[in-house]
Amino acid sequence: MTILPSLLAADFGSLASEIRRCADSGADELHIDVMDAAFVPNLSFGPDAVRLATRVAPDLPRNVHLMMVHPERYLETFASAGASTIQIHAEASCDVSAALRRIRQLGCGAGIVLNPLSSAHSALRHAAEVDEILCMTVFPGFGGQRFKTEPMPTLRDLRKALPRMRLMVDGGIGRETLPIAAEAGADAFVAGTSLFRAPDMASEIAEFRRLYSESAG
Ligand code: DX5
Ligand code: ZN
Repeated sequence: MTILPSLLAADFGSLASEIRRCADSGADELHIDVMDAAFVPNLSFGPDAVRLATRVAPDLPRNVHLMMVHPERYLETFASAGASTIQIHAEASCDVSAALRRIRQLGCGAGIVLNPLSSAHSALRHAAEVDEILCMTVFPGFGGQRFKTEPMPTLRDLRKALPRMRLMVDGGIGRETLPIAAEAGADAFVAGTSLFRAPDMASEIAEFRRLYSESAG
């Protein structure tokens, strides 16, 4: 299983040390949310945040979640900033297959993201083009929202169809909700608020791993 702290919940005044804190607390990867104020009603990080993470914690892979209407215009930019994986939404306004192929050509892992009400089919049609599927468990755009259970049947369908695929969840993940998503088939967990606001990120991550081993498989 994989745990990815979401940098959106970090203290923006100390980003470099917040990134190092994720690495030192045993995170597997760092999740970086990129918003364009059009696909979602908010703005967040750009390529400089990816560059910063690459510099201060080179061993912590950068999982870059593009919430953009036109992600295809920025793939080279994020790849050269140091993205390890680039995720684009199935709902983006571009040729999604071509963009996923381009991500792999750039040497990055490719991921497809589904909004909470999108069907499993929207990801399954891209199964051969991706290394991971992210099911949003909140409507994208903001951290700190409540976990939605609507995507659980989708996760179950995806797990059944793709037993080996990395299936990620993002939004409202914490001690109470991780087991629900794990039981539905998720094996990769993005968590912002619950990890950055925990008294000790390392013990929270350890607790997530324990909860996962109790709930999954
Ligand atoms: C929401 C982002 C999430 C967000 C999760 O649009 O994609 O990655 O940071 O934050 P929490 O864990 O606080 O719901
Ligand atoms: Zn995200």
